[in-house]
Amino acid sequence: MAFALVANFTLGVSVSEMDLSPLKLKMLAWHKWAGMTLLALVTLRLVNRLIFQPPPPEPAPRWQQRAASWMHAALYVLMFAIPVSGWLVTSAAGIPVIYLNLWELPQLLPKNLEWADPLKEVHEALNQALLMLVIVHVLAAIKHHVVDRDSTLVRMLPYLEKRR
Ligand code: HEM
Repeated sequence: MAFALVANFTLGVSVSEMDLSPLKLKMLAWHKWAGMTLLALVTLRLVNRLIFQPPPPEPAPRWQQRAASWMHAALYVLMFAIPVSGWLVTSAAGIPVIYLNLWELPQLLPKNLEWADPLKEVHEALNQALLMLVIVHVLAAIKHHVVDRDSTLVRMLPYLEKRR
């Protein structure tokens, strides 16, 4: 999920900086398909998270455990809200998403061009919020690994265990 999110974030930024061209439209279609796939994956992920409780956190001060819970909740909210806001932009612009050029997905809103630009700004702002939270999340994970020397990062990236 993390790699796919970073890739689709990068694709979104690249597309938004391009002038209108057939290549831009092609890349935008890929951006939308990848985004809809991520929306399906995060839904599965949330169901999995609700069914199976995560292992208890490593011992840490109470404020850090609270901050981690808020961070995880915010990451889930953004992983949902970002693709949904992108879908709303496209719906407001009256452009259907045809997933993999095979299936036309429903429009979330009736066509309304006046809403397309503000919704695009919402999509952009949510992405900026995600970027900031991911930076804090990664720095916190590195701090656990290097300073606290606990297993938080290894639990996120189990292949590190073998290299210890
Ligand atoms: C997790 C999934 C997604 C991520 C991380 C993501 C990320 C981004 C980013 C970073 C931008 C550039 C914002 C800017 O700087 O202006 C962007 C633009 C955009 N995204 Fe997404 N997006 C996702 C899903 C979607 C979906 C599902 C759709 C539509 C179905 C969509 C439609 C758009 C559109 C229409 C733009 C504007 C492109 C332009 O400026 O021409 N995105 N996205």
